[in-house]
Amino acid sequence: MAEIVILPGSPDEAKAAAGELAADLIARVVRGKPDAVLGLATGSTPLPVWSALAARDLDWSRVQGFALDEYVGLPAGHPESYRAVITREVVDTLGLTPTLVHVPGDDGGEIATAGQRYEAAIAAAGGVDIQVLGIGRTGHIGFNEPGSSFASRTRVKTLTEATRLDNARFFDSIDDVPRHCLTQGLGTILDARALVLLAFGEAKADAIAGAVEGPVSASLPGSAIQLHPEVTVLVDEAAASKLRFADYYRYAWDNRPDWAHWS
Ligand code: GLP
Repeated sequence: MAEIVILPGSPDEAKAAAGELAADLIARVVRGKPDAVLGLATGSTPLPVWSALAARDLDWSRVQGFALDEYVGLPAGHPESYRAVITREVVDTLGLTPTLVHVPGDDGGEIATAGQRYEAAIAAAGGVDIQVLGIGRTGHIGFNEPGSSFASRTRVKTLTEATRLDNARFFDSIDDVPRHCLTQGLGTILDARALVLLAFGEAKADAIAGAVEGPVSASLPGSAIQLHPEVTVLVDEAAASKLRFADYYRYAWDNRPDWAHWS
């Protein structure tokens, strides 16, 4: 089912509430399957999820993780590589077992074939049980920029200048932001058993409206979520501000059935 949850309150309150709801979903998976496979996202958006999860009493020792994406071309150990970010923000925060957490291209092999190896590793782990997603201003999920095939698998992509500009805040200058990345494909993401997409702030309102209500189109890669049977979208009022059916989503959430997995 698709559940669109618009969290009321101040931006900070909404982020914290969204983090708790995403943590509820992930905790359910981990309790039911101690070697669950989590799909991990970087960016500022999922931070409240990791902090909410860190406060839960869960056994992380056997949980596996697969990151969505990674830059290509950063020096090894660069603090803004997604390997470093995932280690800092997720592995260390939750106490995951480092050897069970993977990032595309981190196996030391050739970049050209890294995507195939990553796909094989995800398959060998049994597939992703629950995938956390943010969304970029261009509507990208992972680093699947506009034009990405809905059937795409993990591969090298070229970043748009808009994405490089957005991500320049993590680097000394835009010149330091790589032009290429490895990212799970839209087909890879759609294979996860459940998706949780979070977005906060007005800058994400167009991307969220397109992803949730727009035409299903490679021009807005996040719209691929409409093809998935088990999606939860957690947004604050600002990110929800361009949703046509916002009142219905609020009504449906306020009247969610007792038997729904949230109660
Ligand atoms: C990056 C990541 C995406 C992320 C997006 C939004 O480009 N590759 O996975 O969703 O940025 O980032 P933020 O959550 O910081 O807005």
